[in-house]
Amino acid sequence: MWILAFIFSQSILNVFSEDLHSSVYFVNASLQEIVFASTTGTLVPCPAAAVSPATLRWYLATGEEIYNVPGIRHVHQNGTLQIFNFLPSGFSKLIHDNTYYCTAENPSGKIRSQDVHIKAVFREP
Ligand SMILES: *[C@@H]1O[C@H](CO)[C@@H](O)[C@H](O)[C@H]1NC(C)=O
Ligand SMILES: *[C@@H]1O[C@H](CO)[C@@H](O)[C@H](O)[C@H]1NC(C)=O
Repeated sequence: MWILAFIFSQSILNVFSEDLHSSVYFVNASLQEIVFASTTGTLVPCPAAAVSPATLRWYLATGEEIYNVPGIRHVHQNGTLQIFNFLPSGFSKLIHDNTYYCTAENPSGKIRSQDVHIKAVFREP
């Protein structure tokens, strides 16, 4: 039952994104992992996009919409997710080693990007 429901929702999604491919689309479907240095931080463009005006939002893989944390994590107006550089003592698995996805939405439709694992590595001085 669950599997059928899943397949059903996947086929709806496929039809949905094909119909609307001219207004909402994938920018880089091969972007699945970002490994960045804690000393530099990272900027991750939304892998899903839309003909503007559009709303780009980032979520955790759990479906929870992410919030800006001053000096730690920020979603820019253009949909780029920025994770700032940080000290080892500031490490938070929830922010610095987690799976995210982005959605693009405009009046003609909405798509969800693939999951992107974003992970910090430490460089010891
Ligand atoms: C897509 O992402 C991959 C992995 O980060 C990268 O190597 C590739 O250059 C990107 N392609 C485009 C078109 O941005
Ligand atoms: C989005 O905006 C940020 C902050 O202004 C900038 O650093 C980044 O390069 C921009 N990304 C794109 C894809 O325009």
